[in-house]
Amino acid sequence: MVATMHAVRAHERGGPEQFVYESAPRPEPAAGEVLVAVCAASITAGELDWDATWTDRLDGTGHNRTPTVPSHEFSGIVAALGSDVTDLEAGDEVFGLIPFTRDGAAAEYVTVPAHVLAAKPDTLDHDRAAAVPLAALTAWQALVAHAALQPGQHVLIHGGAGGVGTFAVQIARALGARVTATASAHDRGLVNGLGAQRVIDYRGERFEDLVRDADVVLDLVGGETLRRSWASVLRGGIVVSIVEPPDPDQAAAHGARAAFFIVEPDRPGLVAIAELIDSGKLRPIVDRVVPFTETRAAYEALVTEHPRGKVVLHVDHGAAEHESRPATTSSGTRRRL
Ligand SMILES: NC(=O)c1ccc[n+]([C@@H]2O[C@H](COP(=O)([O-])OP(=O)(O)OC[C@H]3O[C@@H](n4cnc5c(N)ncnc54)[C@H](OP(=O)(O)O)[C@@H]3O)[C@@H](O)[C@H]2O)c1
Repeated sequence: MVATMHAVRAHERGGPEQFVYESAPRPEPAAGEVLVAVCAASITAGELDWDATWTDRLDGTGHNRTPTVPSHEFSGIVAALGSDVTDLEAGDEVFGLIPFTRDGAAAEYVTVPAHVLAAKPDTLDHDRAAAVPLAALTAWQALVAHAALQPGQHVLIHGGAGGVGTFAVQIARALGARVTATASAHDRGLVNGLGAQRVIDYRGERFEDLVRDADVVLDLVGGETLRRSWASVLRGGIVVSIVEPPDPDQAAAHGARAAFFIVEPDRPGLVAIAELIDSGKLRPIVDRVVPFTETRAAYEALVTEHPRGKVVLHVDHGAAEHESRPATTSSGTRRRL
């Protein structure tokens, strides 16, 4: 008999329409891994377009690994340890970012390398803690590792009201920077409240006419926004994008540097972020929490409803029976979401 769990999975590459809620084999922790009972997971715009969601390599050249479980940031409770795990115990409350080439956390259980996990912030419940790892680590790695943002510097953050942007504005302020952010006009109050000294309505105003002295531009939007950003950055400054690589020729023409990166699991980064949260300097902005049986609608809402901050999937282990039985795609519990 194979131990099973409930999970949201996609059996073919595509969009949210591919998700089914079904019985699946409960994973076993290998050496260096832990099995986590997921309490909540969170989702990210664009995640279903990333090759790593569907293959076992980041660049998409690896093997197809469908059926895949989405949603790579989560909060939960350690349920079992693989061999060689000495720094965690069953019952520990943890949160983390799962490497993108593994199954995500829209499931009752997930196995995760122990070294990527950190203790959940004491001041957050699991739903709010799940909104943190991917988005906050992206903002942290952009501002600290790639931009080396210094106190007193001016940073322009595009997309300040989004999942990553709401963390980036707060982290930049916590690092002592002067913050300008672009956002929709209706999000001005939110982004000001997070610490941005100036908020530019991206539909009504041209940021490049208003900002000419940014030491750092953090681009969370891409496309035209990224291409127009060179006018805003100082010579010697840097444009960091998380959406697409900035043009190196434009960077050279403006005497600036350019960086693109994909966020990486990072325990020390999560520990630093948890300290900021528990000291009251950083808080997740959660637009809504929905049952993980509504994963499809949650991903669709990212496109259609312009959420503020993060959308969280609450994982209810009591939702249905999951006694041991073989997991097959024709399982009686399977249903298209
Ligand atoms: N490289 C990485 O490691 C990494 C990590 C995380 C995310 N990402 C990518 O980064 C992007 C942002 O992620 P997210 O989770 O923050 O997305 P999100 O929650 O959807 O937020 C995007 C924000 O950008 C705003 N926006 C849209 N067009 C804009 C414009 N022209 N100027 C200024 N703001 C604009 C949106 O406002 P409205 O909704 O009001 O239009 C929204 O608040 C996505 O493409 C995601 O796939 C990459």
